[in-house]
Order: sequence, then structure tokens, then C-alpha cells
Amino acid sequence: MNHAGEFGAVNIYRSQLFVARIFMKDLIPLLEDFLSDEKRHLDVFWQEIQSRNGVKCKSYWLCGLGGYFMGFVSSLMGRRGIMACTWAVENVVVGHLHNQIDYLRKKDDLAALQAVESILEDEQNHRDTGFEEGGTKNILYQPLRFAISSFTEGVIRFGMR
Ligand SMILES: [Fe+2]
Ligand SMILES: [Fe+2]
Repeated sequence: MNHAGEFGAVNIYRSQLFVARIFMKDLIPLLEDFLSDEKRHLDVFWQEIQSRNGVKCKSYWLCGLGGYFMGFVSSLMGRRGIMACTWAVENVVVGHLHNQIDYLRKKDDLAALQAVESILEDEQNHRDTGFEEGGTKNILYQPLRFAISSFTEGVIRFGMR
């Protein structure tokens, strides 16, 4: 599931980069940083999957498509849209990672715990950047934040069945 989620995140930042390269050139370095973080996360969980059952999550393509779509729509709404998207997604992600860490500590699954812990700091950094760049400020973006949070939570719940 985390693997699918990271694939979604990769696609969010990919589509945002695509738009930023045309309209918001100053955001390119930041988005490239985020994208390379997400690619590393994708790799971390792919290693985990391969050491276990080797099967991609059912929601892999749903996450990918949803991510690309959310990234694209948010970036058409400008830099505040991008930051609102980043904040909304990463806020849900960070909450989810904390739950997983609690769960994995109880289960004594050290490999999975380390995988999750190794990405937490990056996701917090993404979320905080979204916040600092005004992702939560504008009331006009509230529907966007709500839609993105809901979709992200929905996908996580779907993936955990
Ligand atoms: Fe990530
Ligand atoms: Fe992230």
C-alpha cells in the first residue's frame, strides 16, 4: 500500500513539474527535490515488497492516476494550488505514517518499521513547506484541500482492506 501511495506522490510532483516548467519556473527546483524524495520512497517500499510477497498493491494504478490528476488540477490553480495540494496530501500521509509506526512497533516488524521511519522526515518536510508557502491560507482553496484530503484518505482505506 505504501508503495502505491508513493507512486501516487511521484505522479503528483511529476504533473506539477510539467505545468511549473511552463508557468512557474521558480518552483522547478523545489518540485524536483520533492520528486526525487518520492522516487527514493518508492524504491524503499519496492525493496520491502520484493523481500516479502513481491506483489504490487491493487490500488497501484488508481494511486498513480489519482496522483497525476490531483497534481495537474492543483497546478492549474497556480502556486497556491500546488502548495494546497502538497499540504493536504502530506498532512494525511504523515498522520498515516504515525499510525503505521505505532502498529509496526507493536508487531515487532523491524524491517518495515525502518522503511516507514526512513521516509517520515521527508514527508514532514513536504507538508511543512506546503504550509509555509501558504497552502493552508486561502479560503478559496478549501474545496481543493478537502477533495484532495478525502481522496487520499479514501485511497489509503481502500488499500488497507
Ligand atoms: Fe513519499
Ligand atoms: Fe511526500
